Amino acid sequence: MAKLAPSILSADFSCLGDQVMEISKAGADYIHIDVMDGHFVPNISFGAPVMKSLDKFETAPYDVHLMIEHPEKYIEDFVTEKTEYIVVHQEACVHLHRVIQQIKSFGKKAGVALNPATPVSALEYILEDIDLVLVMSVNPGFGGQKFIPSATGKIKELDRIRKSKGYHFIIEVDGGIGIQNTEEVISAGCDLIVAGSAVFKGKSPEANVKAFKEIL
Ligand code: DX5
Ligand code: ZN
Repeated sequence: MAKLAPSILSADFSCLGDQVMEISKAGADYIHIDVMDGHFVPNISFGAPVMKSLDKFETAPYDVHLMIEHPEKYIEDFVTEKTEYIVVHQEACVHLHRVIQQIKSFGKKAGVALNPATPVSALEYILEDIDLVLVMSVNPGFGGQKFIPSATGKIKELDRIRKSKGYHFIIEVDGGIGIQNTEEVISAGCDLIVAGSAVFKGKSPEANVKAFKEIL
């Protein structure tokens, strides 16, 4: 069964604790933590102190998405008991293999994200070492953008490769996901769905999570 990771980028930061507890109780499988530095992407979000302020609440585990340059300098900051995945961008890492080993050295699962223009082949020599591939279905930087359809083909390609080679990584998709295109990405082979505005805007976050979980 596919899982859901609501992105808190679209949450109401003035009551973040309440919102993460609400979505966790409603069945969110992970809390997706979007970290932006204003360099790798044209926007600044928040850093490790904001994520760690959630440690005291009973929530789903963290899925940390680092949209930052030189992620190797900050990996340790994002390691807490509730951190399950740390995901770095292929485009941001000169020494990708080393960063993956660094994440694993803290006992955490390591993921790599691909921007829409980056081919799956860029990961050829690292796929067997990683726990997750994040397919960006928008250009990272902002919530509420439109899904880029070529992401579906990328998910299918990754699913084909892992089946043929027996690799264990899961496939995550992020950007422009709503109730209307969830089935499409899941049948392409996606295991983990990120949704920001579709969870935190409109009806209540609780109702939105439940609607997603019904499809998943
Ligand atoms: C985009 C972020 C996404 C974003 C998703 O840069 O990585 O996680 O918050 O937001 P929606 O679901 O609104 O596209
Ligand atoms: Zn994200």
